[in-house]
Amino acid sequence: MARIAYVNGQYVPHRNAAVHVEDRGYQFADGVYEVFAVMAGKLIGEQGHLDRLAHSLSELRIKWPLSRAALMVVIKEIVRRNHVRDGLVYLQVTRGVAPRDHPFPAHSESALVITARKSDPMDKDALRTGVDVITIPDIRWQRCDIKSVALLPNVLGKQQARDADAFEAWQVDNEGYVTEGTSTNAWIVTADGDLVTRNASTSILNGVTRLSVLEAATDAGIDIMERPFTPEEALAAREAFITSSTSHVKAVTRIDGQSIGNGHVGELTNRILDAYVEYMEAHGGPRTTDTWN
Ligand code: PDD
Repeated sequence: MARIAYVNGQYVPHRNAAVHVEDRGYQFADGVYEVFAVMAGKLIGEQGHLDRLAHSLSELRIKWPLSRAALMVVIKEIVRRNHVRDGLVYLQVTRGVAPRDHPFPAHSESALVITARKSDPMDKDALRTGVDVITIPDIRWQRCDIKSVALLPNVLGKQQARDADAFEAWQVDNEGYVTEGTSTNAWIVTADGDLVTRNASTSILNGVTRLSVLEAATDAGIDIMERPFTPEEALAAREAFITSSTSHVKAVTRIDGQSIGNGHVGELTNRILDAYVEYMEAHGGPRTTDTWN
């Protein structure tokens, strides 16, 4: 089955999908993106992703390439044409094509690319296997609430994790607090049993999965503290996990080579994964989608 991509108004074979060499996304990383999960045929968190896209576009003063309703039609069509039952949708909007010059061009049309990719269905056992995380300095800019395609620090951090046989790198800010992973949000269950994740601000990307987990955990009667935590607190934690549209709720069992808790997936992490899956089945995403920093 040939994959199909959407590029600026046209559905094209994925292998031929291309943008212009002077697309400002290519030359300046002048663009934003979203990654949607598709689970059992359902697009997850669509309102959340579109609201966050609205935030990213407006902060960068990039025009919507299509109306929100038209964008949803194209996203669903790409899922349909690629026969994706489980997988992800990648959507990217850039400021468009213009002769290379730093200021915003006087005239440019926002460029839109949407692709979809199949993956295996969510496997709870695999998510419960537990992965390693390392900690690294956060060298990113000060607007991490914007889902910019400028991901070089994230790419370098993820590669550093891979080089250390770890799954993810937790970035640590200048004050010594964990911000988030390179493509995931970071969570711990402290030695006292508190579930903690960093509060939303311009220092992190407020994950759509993060918002769903906050709501699912609250509904399940689990208290959450939204505040920064240090790597030392994480090392002393009972449990840790990460969240994202592609990792869902994934257990972390080692940080910087040291076992967390008893080295096995924690009890609360297990409960939260179950609560998250149930929540997705019931609501398909977070109810609150209007807070992006
Ligand atoms: N990453 N933090 C960062 C820096 C991210 O890049 C992401 C998502 C998240 C989690 O957000 P969400 O729950 O909305 O997926 C947090 C996507 C998956 C990516 O870059 O591939």
